[in-house]
Amino acid sequence: MIVLVTEQEFHRAPDVFQSSTCQCIAAAADEMSLARQVREGGVRHVIVGSVKYTGPLYDALSRGGVIARFGVGHDRIDKEKATAAGVLCTNTPHVLDASVAEHAVLLMLGAARRIATLASEMTAGTWALGPAGLELRDKTLAIVGAGRIGQATARIASQGFGMRTIGFRRTLPPAPAEPFDSVTTDFALAVRDADFVSLHINAEPANYQFLNRERLALIAQRAWLINTARGTVVDEQSLYDVLADGRLAGAALDVFDREPYVPADPSRDLRTLANVLLTPHVGSHTREANRGMAERALQNVIRAVRGEFDGMDLVNPAVLKVIGGP
Ligand code: 8YV
Repeated sequence: MIVLVTEQEFHRAPDVFQSSTCQCIAAAADEMSLARQVREGGVRHVIVGSVKYTGPLYDALSRGGVIARFGVGHDRIDKEKATAAGVLCTNTPHVLDASVAEHAVLLMLGAARRIATLASEMTAGTWALGPAGLELRDKTLAIVGAGRIGQATARIASQGFGMRTIGFRRTLPPAPAEPFDSVTTDFALAVRDADFVSLHINAEPANYQFLNRERLALIAQRAWLINTARGTVVDEQSLYDVLADGRLAGAALDVFDREPYVPADPSRDLRTLANVLLTPHVGSHTREANRGMAERALQNVIRAVRGEFDGMDLVNPAVLKVIGGP
């Protein structure tokens, strides 16, 4: 059985894809090329990254086919169109939680100790202490989004670095605050005392530019923003303004509204600022997470073929009615 795997994802876990019982073939990620290769090859299943698919791919795949995300976010998959076409969509939850949480803490540490500047100055032949760094111990980390990755980040920050953690979520669970020191539905309260604010919300439409100008204004000037979630949850132009004006200490970002990063407003290019630390959406790009995502995506395809729908990470369960499943 042939499974097309978008090139970037294929090369993130080549051993898994090359040793699979499926015949995994690397494919271009752009929608027209991928849809054409699906049609020309009579391919029923694809494994994709975080490129946005708007239509042709759903039309090209046959009923009962699978779009398996190599990753947990499925905001760039049109679930309605996929469901109407009878295409099953899956993601890979949990297997990247540690990787992304560790990257969030890495960005926080990197910001606190100016590691990128110090490293680049050393390689340029400069030996300069520069401004003093900041310890994470006894500092406050506000975590926006108290799901699994937010919780993993809180555990590392508190147990590893002695930070105080406060979680923000839209609705309070009946469960205790653990692993956070406290949890609130009041964003202003969550960030009021924060030295770092880390975003861990998904990119559902309700979260589009969640961190807007008004909410940015609630964050203390001394604080750093950390984003390993999705670029679309931040108003990038407002973020640029508060960074450029010194109304925020800095921003350490792994995700961007447009990827590869292109500023919506060329006069507000985040890369021109001194108080930013930027990485190219590598939060889950570890050997362990890549292997986990590849294996989980392939497992979803194989379970679909076997009709084992209950064991799939389906993100559009309504599709089962369309294809006549259980
Ligand atoms: C992947 C991600 O790198 O899980 C996600 O939603 O954005 C990342 O883990 C991305 O899906 C591209 O492969």
